[in-house]
Amino acid sequence: MLTPATAERIVQDILHQKFGFFPVDRTLVDEVSGQWLAFVQRRIKTGDAADWLFTNEGEEESDVGLVVKSGETHQYGQYDHKLLFQNSVRLRRQLARKDLAAADWVFLAQHRVLMEHVQRVELRLLEELERLTGESGIVGSVIRSALKPIPYAMSTLRALVYQAVAGQKGAQKHLDRGFLTLHSGDVNGRLVYFDGPDDDSPKPIDVPSGYGVAFPGIKWLWVFAGKYQPLWHGAEVTSDGERVAHPYFSHVELCGYMVRDFRAALQDFHSTFLPLMQQGQYHWRMA
Ligand SMILES: [Fe+2]
Repeated sequence: MLTPATAERIVQDILHQKFGFFPVDRTLVDEVSGQWLAFVQRRIKTGDAADWLFTNEGEEESDVGLVVKSGETHQYGQYDHKLLFQNSVRLRRQLARKDLAAADWVFLAQHRVLMEHVQRVELRLLEELERLTGESGIVGSVIRSALKPIPYAMSTLRALVYQAVAGQKGAQKHLDRGFLTLHSGDVNGRLVYFDGPDDDSPKPIDVPSGYGVAFPGIKWLWVFAGKYQPLWHGAEVTSDGERVAHPYFSHVELCGYMVRDFRAALQDFHSTFLPLMQQGQYHWRMA
């Protein structure tokens, strides 16, 4: 577990440099990465990827379980070429009724162990964040979003694979939709950051071995009224192989607002919420 001094240093880095490195159990991460690639191979072999996709109550897009993106165009541009798996209470409830192969249960169990490992680090960091900023209610809100699916605000560990396809570019410049992301286990790729939305020069984040990187998503703007900024970032594929990574997305529930898309949310924050906050007429916590 993190010592108080380590937790404080990581949170100070996140507040002032927009990212910080946290220690992670590398053996566990490597184990889950192997299980995850084998899980994807089984889906390709059996052709049952669609059976692993679920929709959260109150959402329009399906993003629980296994999601396959193949460069399709959408409202704001084009999806990456990737497969992702998102764990949740709802997914486990749905799967409990199915007759799964033993190897699939092993993957689900291992993935959950990694999720709980990262959640413990995260909660420690969030306690420290509350202490350093004086902003209360973050820990409680994040725990609620992990235990009960809230539309567009599900805290979850995502297993990610960027396939080795022609034109694979990794992830384009974006903000995460959540509050805090804890990203670990990057293989054949790396995160890059940008100084802001207008910066087009990606700068690599060199994560030390045995560490993951934690950084703020867009909900940071609501919680800190724009005082601290989220990290503009993307990802590069650094070799011809498949890129694997395990980001954990944590959410807080925002009073009266759901973040469906980061671009629209950024606009809404500046045009509606920030002016209200400056007049003392809005606070992110639910009443
Ligand atoms: Fe991201």
